[in-house]
Amino acid sequence: MKTEGFKVKALRSVFLGCGSYLPKKALTNQQLTEMVDTSDEWIVQRTGIRNRHIAAEGEFTSHLAINAAKAALENAGVDAQDIDLIVLATSTPDNTFPATAVDVQAALGINHGFAFDIQAVCSGFVYAVTTADAYLRGGLAKRALVIGAETFSRILDWEDRTTCVLFGDGAGAVVMEAQEGAPSLEESGVLTCQLRSDGRHKDKLYVDGGPSTTQTAGYLRMQGREVFKHAVGMVTDVIEASFEATGTTADDLDWFVPHQANQRIIDASAKKLGIAPEKVVKTVSEHGNTSAASIPLALDSIVKSGDVKKGDLIMLEAMGGGFTWGSVLLKW
Ligand code: UT7
Repeated sequence: MKTEGFKVKALRSVFLGCGSYLPKKALTNQQLTEMVDTSDEWIVQRTGIRNRHIAAEGEFTSHLAINAAKAALENAGVDAQDIDLIVLATSTPDNTFPATAVDVQAALGINHGFAFDIQAVCSGFVYAVTTADAYLRGGLAKRALVIGAETFSRILDWEDRTTCVLFGDGAGAVVMEAQEGAPSLEESGVLTCQLRSDGRHKDKLYVDGGPSTTQTAGYLRMQGREVFKHAVGMVTDVIEASFEATGTTADDLDWFVPHQANQRIIDASAKKLGIAPEKVVKTVSEHGNTSAASIPLALDSIVKSGDVKKGDLIMLEAMGGGFTWGSVLLKW
């Protein structure tokens, strides 16, 4: 075997920019009171949600994803032709197959590289970033578009007040690039990813249909209190694992960007971890739970505000159906 000249380079994946997109149509708590037996007071008190966005008729997950991807490419200053990997996290794909990621690839005019979907429900974006990070560090691709995009409005039972008030539609995206040098606290890049799942909890948050079971898309079903009970412990577990893997602490963080499902879960997790309230990014009031889109939507809100500086330490975290959960610690 000829091995002369072959050298494996240490690589890390760096976030170059981000973008997001919300459908035009907003749905307020007040409007929901005309659809189901609920109140603005109940929704705000239990969840912190005041508003959510709903995709228009004929507006699909791919359309939201394409808009977010274009915004991320612009923010990163990267041409679509320089992307050779698209990882799209969604539980509400346009079709059972092909992957919604290939719709995005075609719409961006990319005919090279490869694109695929990931399904880890609300943890989808954390799973997608972790996947892209592994591909980039492994040298399988150079520049990745990582997208979280959902149209949960299409799988909600609009007569079930325990779920329909919680979710919304949207998309967010980041551009990641492989750069030379191993991950380190001195350089921008992903430092550590922690993923977990436990299928014993699959009946606590699921969709009651699918191609192989009912040949329908099904509707979202959730035992909210059961999910709530597990959420804080699971979230803090993967964040503590990130701290341990990197020798960092809550004090070192500049930003905590949690999954936006419920303000009470976010506040309780931050408190348990000792993360100062001013570092906690909260957008749940404005777009509800957008599943895989919620973290990039929240991240984009602080990047757009101009408050994120190069070198800032950012913790992403999510928990959702499966159960799945995970965290990503990165330097911007
Ligand atoms: O993204 C994936 C992760 N998902 C989550 O993180 C969701 C986690 N769970 C939660 O956020 C909360 O459990 C909910 C917001 C879903 C519910 O809050 P809760 O404090 O756990 O309320 P509950 O389910 O225990 O319900 C309390 C009461 C019930 O009435 P009774 O049985 O006490 O008479 C519900 O029927 O509130 C009632 N209720 C409502 N009332 C008005 C449930 N939904 C509504 C509603 N409006 N929309």
